[in-house]
Amino acid sequence: MKFFPDFRNQFSGYQSALKPKDVVRLNANEGRVLNPYREYPLKRNEKILEQFANLYGVEKMNLIADRGVDGILELIFLVFNSPTTRVLTSAPTYGMYKILADIYGQEYFEVPLKGDGSLNSEFLLQSQRPGQIIIICRPNNPTGDICPKEQIEEVLKATQGNSLVVLDEAYADYLDSKEQGLDLLTRYQNLLICRTLSKYYSLAGLRVGFGIANSALVEKLIPYQSPYPVPSIVSDWLVENFNEDFISSANEEFQQMEIEKLKLIEVLTAFGKVKDSKSNFVNLYTAESKRLYETLKSFNVEVRLFEQLNFLRFSIGTQSEMQRLYTSLEHIR
Ligand SMILES: Cc1ncc(COP(=O)(O)O)c(C=O)c1O
Repeated sequence: MKFFPDFRNQFSGYQSALKPKDVVRLNANEGRVLNPYREYPLKRNEKILEQFANLYGVEKMNLIADRGVDGILELIFLVFNSPTTRVLTSAPTYGMYKILADIYGQEYFEVPLKGDGSLNSEFLLQSQRPGQIIIICRPNNPTGDICPKEQIEEVLKATQGNSLVVLDEAYADYLDSKEQGLDLLTRYQNLLICRTLSKYYSLAGLRVGFGIANSALVEKLIPYQSPYPVPSIVSDWLVENFNEDFISSANEEFQQMEIEKLKLIEVLTAFGKVKDSKSNFVNLYTAESKRLYETLKSFNVEVRLFEQLNFLRFSIGTQSEMQRLYTSLEHIR
């Protein structure tokens, strides 16, 4: 695995206490009052891994669960941090990549996206440099752009396995399955895909996300993970509730969200140029972005301002949240 930092190869990580059946475990210093959460959780909860391996059409060994995609990204930055690592991504994109690069003291290099949302040829050129964490956010936050899938393959080919390519698919559940990147995994050993329960499945508060990659890469990451990445109360909740009915209602909710999104687009058109996305947000481009942001804030409605780029990002919220937004916008018009 050329792209894995050599100096990390010998590390085996913290060995958390396992609990085989029928063994009296007096080796973990847990408290002695009986309650459902007395014991430390498992580092790799097989039930959860199986459940989500099925959802993503991979094997358990291809999956690593953590505290949201943010937790997975943090793990990646921790493991691939070396004095020469460079982070390559396109701009504008999800702000945590830069923050993590700053935290880990890594060089951060951004190449602007093209106007049509595709990756710049400069990005492809830069991806040839070895020893990088290359991050592609698709659909991209905050622009909603979806770069052509062929470009991801071009990047994967350009790296020749010398860098890690991270495909942040936090919003990919909103895409048709063939538009998603999961099928690339069998062909590229240096690809890691991030998925989350926070967006399409409306479970941001659980803090669960997944890294999906070939098993050799997953095995390399596991030792660096914190000993108990998913709390028992969260995995219990998922085992109990994240079933076929839950997925069907998320799919139905997606249809409702699309209707709401069309309504929002119609309302926002009065304020500037609206850009739809295949995600759960739309963007309003206007030279008045700051003023509109402040005004909405005065109505206690928070949207996301990208002042330098002259746009506002509106998440599609609950019905009552959207109603508050529409009422505020009516007052502003
Ligand atoms: C592109 C992108 N990646 C990752 C995340 C974080 O997701 P999670 O809630 O799974 O940590 C977000 C959240 O807004 C995001 O927009």
